[in-house]
Amino acid sequence: MKTYTSQSIREMYLNFFKDRGHKVIPSASLIPENDPTVLFTTAGMHPLVPYLLGEKHPAGTRLTDVQKCVRTGDIDDVGDASHCTFFEMLGNWSLGDYFKQEMIPWSYEFLTGKDYLGLDPDKLAVTVFGGDETLPCDDEAAALWEKAGIKRENIYYMSRENNWWGPAGLTGPCGTDTEMFIIRKPKCSPTCNPDCKCGAFLEIWNDVFMRFNKQADGTYTELSQKNVDTGMGLERALCVLTGKSSVYETDLFEDAIKVISTLTGKAYDADPETTRAFRVILDHTRTATFMIGDEKGIVPSNTDQGYILRRIIRRAVRFGRKIDLPEGSLAKIAAAYIEKYKSVYPELEVNRDKIFEELAKEEAKFTKTLQQGLKEFEKCLNGIERKNAFMAQNNPDYVPEKRINGKQAFHLYDTYGFPVEITDEMAKERGYSVDMDGYKAAFEEHQSKSKAGSEQKFACGLADNKEATTRLHTATHLLHAALKKVYSDEVNQKGSNITEERLRFDFNLPQPMTAEEIKKVEDLVNEVIAQNLPVVMQEISLEEAKAQGFTGLFESKYGERVKTYTIGDFSKEICGGPHAATTGELGKFKITKEQSCGSGLRRIKAVLQ
Ligand code: ALA
Repeated sequence: MKTYTSQSIREMYLNFFKDRGHKVIPSASLIPENDPTVLFTTAGMHPLVPYLLGEKHPAGTRLTDVQKCVRTGDIDDVGDASHCTFFEMLGNWSLGDYFKQEMIPWSYEFLTGKDYLGLDPDKLAVTVFGGDETLPCDDEAAALWEKAGIKRENIYYMSRENNWWGPAGLTGPCGTDTEMFIIRKPKCSPTCNPDCKCGAFLEIWNDVFMRFNKQADGTYTELSQKNVDTGMGLERALCVLTGKSSVYETDLFEDAIKVISTLTGKAYDADPETTRAFRVILDHTRTATFMIGDEKGIVPSNTDQGYILRRIIRRAVRFGRKIDLPEGSLAKIAAAYIEKYKSVYPELEVNRDKIFEELAKEEAKFTKTLQQGLKEFEKCLNGIERKNAFMAQNNPDYVPEKRINGKQAFHLYDTYGFPVEITDEMAKERGYSVDMDGYKAAFEEHQSKSKAGSEQKFACGLADNKEATTRLHTATHLLHAALKKVYSDEVNQKGSNITEERLRFDFNLPQPMTAEEIKKVEDLVNEVIAQNLPVVMQEISLEEAKAQGFTGLFESKYGERVKTYTIGDFSKEICGGPHAATTGELGKFKITKEQSCGSGLRRIKAVLQ
């Protein structure tokens, strides 16, 4: 039997597709560029959306990569055998190039070929789109699978719920898919299928045939090109191929487990509760390491990505307490991950100190209040029980309340730093719940009192509007250039996020902007808008772009040829687009907010009026 490691699978996958005409492209950042509808890159296709929609990719029409991804939707399930909030996705793309006829035989070859994964074809099952009122069933995919060597009885026609993928955000490319499963044990009943939770089937790969574009109004239009988007989770694949019962037992986590064991004196498999705590700490610390160490690295905060980061670090600290993990451990666990991953993700090594510092800071902050917060939490439950006992005395029909009210949950957040999701999880462990609506109301009341905008807090998805965001994207370039002119060339973009209402731009500057400087920046941008300059796109080599003085935010991300956008002699940036055609389309530029967003970092919010 072959021995597989995380690295050998990465290489095998990329080489397989390289041999079939694909260009290997590097992983993009975990923070999506200018996609207001999601906080993190959730799939390999996510950074490629513009190209799936028809823009030309500098590396061609066949691409392959290993993309770092974050999905926090199932965070409460982390601790079981397979859930992770961070994962790597192996993927390959056809941008209007090949389609099913090539992809399905390739998938079969990679899964079963003796030079590749070498899986037994009879232990493979696939699902294909079963058809509905809008689209016919995918007989073509089924026939291709059968021809390749999958047994007819292992080909399942399933509903749209199972065999439709995308979009990654609220809108964008999507389509029917065919999913591949390992058959791990006999079916639990004659009607058992890959959607069954009995564990007979484990998904390993997904080929999406992207032909549609979901619009903001919920309708679908046909894309101008037929694409393929595939995704194989590295952790999952590794787990299956090495015969492990959990992703946490693969080589990816080996060293980090040793560090936790040394720090706590406990074995990973001591008992189920200990294993669960280990896994939560392993997963969350890895995710936090990648978030902070990302090329567009983020730091813990109370909004957006920073809030998710804060939440996972604090959850790790809470589970750390269950196994006596001493304060200061997270950075030590992170060190093991940096070693493990740095050859594939050099940004972790580059940001090593920042990772240690931010983890230590956040861990210390929460550790300080955790003990007292837990006491407060117990007091809360006691109060509810006392009230229940009292009410029951006077009313035999009284149904005991098992709910922490919104004000109490807010108090735990505001005073003790308990993200409400953590309070909710602790409540659930004890058979209680949290009044989430009440919490939001308490939160918002507090925010409006303190006049600190609360708009970001619960908004993970905002409707997007292509034109408005495109204009704001162009305005972002002008702002970037204006900041360089007002301060220095050393001022650089550290983050960008655009919704249809506003742009947000983070950059390095050691002191706050003065009112005068803000005005100067606004004036510079508005002058360029008034000149109605064309926004010119040119595709040139990275070297050429550097030589010509383009600002290189995404250096080497897309390999050799890059897109550059030039606005008069004001702004020159390497960027994937899209942009407005001329600056005259932009309207009036106004900075609405300027604030700190980390040490040495400022954040601007601006609108076009
Ligand atoms: N985008 C597809 C997925 O994430 C491949 O499953």
